[in-house]
Amino acid sequence: MLAGREGHATQKAMQILVALGEIYGARRLVKVSSVQVSGVSYKNLGDAGLQFLDELARDGKARVKTTLNPAGMSLTDWRSQGIDPHFAEKQLEVIDAYRRLGLEISCTCTPYLAGNEPGFGEHIAWGESSAVAYANSVLGARTNREGGPSALAASLTGRTPLYGLHLRENRVPTHSVEVEAQLKSPEDFSAMGYFVGRAVKDGIPRFSGVKRASLDELKTLSAALASSGGVAMFHIAGVTPESKLSGGRAESLTFTSHDLEETVAQLNDHGTPDFVSVGCPHCSIGELATLARLLKGKKVRKEFWVCCSREVKRKSDELGYSRPIQRSGAKFATDTCMVVAPIEDMGYRVVATNSAKACHYLRNSGLRVRFLTLEKCVAEATRGVET
Ligand code: F3S
Repeated sequence: MLAGREGHATQKAMQILVALGEIYGARRLVKVSSVQVSGVSYKNLGDAGLQFLDELARDGKARVKTTLNPAGMSLTDWRSQGIDPHFAEKQLEVIDAYRRLGLEISCTCTPYLAGNEPGFGEHIAWGESSAVAYANSVLGARTNREGGPSALAASLTGRTPLYGLHLRENRVPTHSVEVEAQLKSPEDFSAMGYFVGRAVKDGIPRFSGVKRASLDELKTLSAALASSGGVAMFHIAGVTPESKLSGGRAESLTFTSHDLEETVAQLNDHGTPDFVSVGCPHCSIGELATLARLLKGKKVRKEFWVCCSREVKRKSDELGYSRPIQRSGAKFATDTCMVVAPIEDMGYRVVATNSAKACHYLRNSGLRVRFLTLEKCVAEATRGVET
């Protein structure tokens, strides 16, 4: 591959992997069973990224199951989202390049809820920080935090350098977090992730004192830890599959109810929201069931995006959850999300959301944020108006 006998794209991909392997001291490559490629929104890629993809698509092909992160817009309903036609044209060119490369146009940051769910111990190469933390911690699969190019390179070669979290010895906790706060909702897990991510940076926290955690709580915890910090793996004693791993000295910290309150306060700016969005990471079917119940018979009075994968939306259609959501005027934002879509260019200023990760990145785009529970996001969008 490196010598170019399997084509230009494969050679380029292998050059990227060899360079990475040399930097991190990997002794060899390892075969991967699945890849998740980030770097899909034209907002982040720009023309240089599009050109890079276009070049690879001339003779490159995915060798393993490869799914895609959200794009900057819904691929079908971008007009009703208010997306600029020039942006849409460029975004569709990006998607076309990925399609030619043989990637599944899944456009979700929760591939594990949409048919790409690796098993325990499988080597994978994923590039979406929230999904990386979830895959390592909850599924027990093994991946480093890949960037867009290195994940794509793994897809085109079926391999990744064997270093970092692919090795058992690097998966032991670096920090021990005693959770004293009562965690009552996924949003509390999100706030805790935000607090702990900031403290441990790219470490591996091991939480104790958490008796149980739902899929939605683990999903939002993964995202928050990976946004304020660079966490790619965590453990929860008695909950996650490798929580008994030990070795080395782990630094101790606590998460108290005061820390919880303070973190929530820090994630709230002033101003009345003009945009409400849930589904960061993309909603599970359970979250859509809750939204259907909360929105039934109500009308939203503000732009309200429900971000999820097409796969989960399809299940929601079948189970009858989509109808009350859509009848309320809320919009399904499949293929995209409030962070990777250019909503700041669409005139919105203050966003209400139930995700600490979304708050973090929306602020980076110059928006103000309100961090609310799912129930309060619905209340904010509807303000109790009954049909
Ligand atoms: Fe997913 Fe967008 Fe949040 S990609 S994790 S919904 S920032």
